[in-house]
This record gives sequence, structure tokens and C-alpha cells, in this order.
Amino acid sequence: MGYDAKFRVWRGDADGGDLQDYTVLANDGEVVLDIIHRLQATQTPDLAVRWNCKAGKCGSCSAEVNGRPKLLCMTRMSTFTEDEVITVTPMRTFPVIRDLVTDVSFNYAKAREIQSFTPPEGLKAGEYRMKQVDVARSQEFRKCIECFLCQDTCHVVRDHEENKQNFAGPRFLMRVAELDMHPLDVAERRDSAQSEHGLGLCNITKCCTDVCPEHIKITDNALIPMKERVVDRHYDPLVWLGNKLFRR
Ligand code: SF4
Ligand code: SF4
Ligand code: FES
Repeated sequence: MGYDAKFRVWRGDADGGDLQDYTVLANDGEVVLDIIHRLQATQTPDLAVRWNCKAGKCGSCSAEVNGRPKLLCMTRMSTFTEDEVITVTPMRTFPVIRDLVTDVSFNYAKAREIQSFTPPEGLKAGEYRMKQVDVARSQEFRKCIECFLCQDTCHVVRDHEENKQNFAGPRFLMRVAELDMHPLDVAERRDSAQSEHGLGLCNITKCCTDVCPEHIKITDNALIPMKERVVDRHYDPLVWLGNKLFRR
């Protein structure tokens, strides 16, 4: 059975905009992205929205629904009552391009700042051997679809433009942790996690974990272990001595 859903959608661009009200048909089993597409098809052909897979796997339909960072294609209409006004706005942490589309290039810049996987010199292809336990540990982090919802929700940058330069955000601190946990990676990661990527600004509120559509335990399995590794390096005398004698 269809019903008239009440939507409030942010319309505008980098120069400004506002919320506009629409009434759009919603059918059983639909998601918010279906309604946005119907709105586009029937009333607002110029409404800008980014999407690709409609299956929660490309990470491109990220926006905010009732102020919560969400994938539009994975947010079921059945989670709202029929008389509820559903507000859809662009991700707040990134600059708006138009309507629901934001410029997420901050994230690509942060990705480029992380030194890529660095195996020991002279190690040849075919000599890369890892234990299954080490493979399993990073497997969780590799599920990331780069939707940047965790980056959007993190309070360190959400309302603090001034922190963006010194803070990589949860997605990329998780990448640093993943590489630091890799048994074949020999790059220095722990000092730079603090000094270059801003690990110290994270106060483990777990908001990033709460919004991750892949249910990655970003805080518990990446950020907290990375903080512990940094502390070990600086304050554990045995680790300190080991670091002096051996590279890892
Ligand atoms: S746990 Fe850290 S990275 Fe995640 S939202 Fe909180 S402050 Fe940001
Ligand atoms: S860690 Fe989760 S929330 Fe963050 S970018 Fe990856 S999939 Fe999205
Ligand atoms: S359209 Fe691909 S994740 Fe939503």
C-alpha cells in the first residue's frame, strides 16, 4: 500500500540554500533513495543526489537523514511513521556542491598523506608470507566502502574546520592502524599517527563506529589498539629497547 510521505530536503549550493517541503508517494519496501528518485522524476528534475549501486556497497549515497549520517539506499522507509516528516540534508562536514552532493576530496587528500604499504627492502613477490591470524585482523578494516559517514560524524572535524588540517579522521586512522598491524610493513607509523594524523585528538567516543554501515568496530579494533601501540612505544622500557635494537 502506498502513502504520501512528507519530505524536507535541503536545496542549494555553496552560496547557500534552505530546506524545502515535498509530498512524495512511498510504496511498501522502499528506501529513502527510492523516494528521492521519485521526487527527482516527478517534481524536481534538477535535484542533485549522488548514488551508484543502490545496494550499500559503493558508498556514494551518503547524506544525513533526520540529522543522522546514513546511506540513503540502506535507510528503509519502514523505520519512520507515515506521518513523520523526513529531513534529508547533505553531509555537514564537507563542503556542499549542490543539494545532497558534497565535495569529499578532504578524504582523498588524507588518504594520500598515509605512506603506502612498505615491505622490507629486497623482499620479492612470492616471499610475502603471513599467518592467517594476521590476515584475519585486517580483514575487518578491508570491508570499508569509503562512504565517509564516520568522517562526517566525527566531532573533531564536524564543527571544527580548523582541525581538518591536523586530523585524518577515523577512516584513515583505521588505515594507519591496519598498516601498523601488518607483519610485513616496516614503515614508522606510531609517531606519525600522533604527529601527522592527529590520533591524539580522538577521544574514543565511538560515534564513528555507531554510523558505520559495514559495522566495522573502528574504535575498539583500530583506534584504541593504535593508541595502545603509541603508548607502548613511548612508555614501555622493553618495547623502547626492542625498537632500538630491532626495527620492529
Ligand atoms: S572515536 Fe575518535 S575518530 Fe571516532 S568519532 Fe569519536 S573522536 Fe572521532
Ligand atoms: S569505516 Fe565504515 S563509515 Fe567509515 S568510510 Fe568505511 S564503511 Fe564508511
Ligand atoms: S548507492 Fe551505493 S551505497 Fe548507496
